[in-house]
Amino acid sequence: MNENIIAIDGPAGSGKSSVAREIAQRSTYQYFDSGAYYRAVTLYFMKRHEELGGKGKFYDFLNHYEFLNKLNSIQLSATLQKKSENLIFLGQEDVTIEIRHPEVTGNIKYLAPYREVRDFINANLIELARVNRLIMDGRDIGTEVFPDAKFKFFLTADAKIRARRRWDELKEQGIDTDYEKLLEEIQKRDESDQNRKIAPLKQAEDAFLIDTSNLSKNVVINMILSRI
Ligand code: C5P
Repeated sequence: MNENIIAIDGPAGSGKSSVAREIAQRSTYQYFDSGAYYRAVTLYFMKRHEELGGKGKFYDFLNHYEFLNKLNSIQLSATLQKKSENLIFLGQEDVTIEIRHPEVTGNIKYLAPYREVRDFINANLIELARVNRLIMDGRDIGTEVFPDAKFKFFLTADAKIRARRRWDELKEQGIDTDYEKLLEEIQKRDESDQNRKIAPLKQAEDAFLIDTSNLSKNVVINMILSRI
């Protein structure tokens, strides 16, 4: 049993990141959002697409670029911070802000289903965990990345409530979006995350389930803290 990992999985907007971030602030664990690496890898290929003229759809570009062979040229890294947002880097470039752009969010689904992409990201997540005690959120942290984690939680909530939370979160970051579009995007994302063949979003058998729809952030935090 790995006591150095707290795994928090669940769909977009279930409250994972805000809860995990605050638990990190109140404990010896560092917060890491595994989605940031999915975003960074997607952004890496979007940048290559742009550099090569940006013609055609991103999806078509990916296939013709043979992106799976290029994964090892990606240098992913992160600077973990307690008091502010972690910094995410592609090589020397700080992409912390750019990876949150809705266009990046919309393109992750083309990469996340591939075993090679997931293995590459998982290796980077395991490396981070080698040198840090982590509370990590994602889709498959308790099932695939750290099946031996001692503490596992699965957070969920009604899709409408999750869309509203995501809207608030983006607003805070200065990104204006349309609520209806966000809801549709969340539903589409749930579908692709739950139905992919490799490492789909699902509750680990030994994870503790929390439906956060009608719970305040503090209640959820206390439920988690009392279990660990
Ligand atoms: O957590 P976030 O919403 O930033 O994640 C973005 C996307 O990255 C998810 O919708 C999912 O497709 C992918 N992801 C994943 N496995 C993880 C974390 C994120 O497939 N562990």
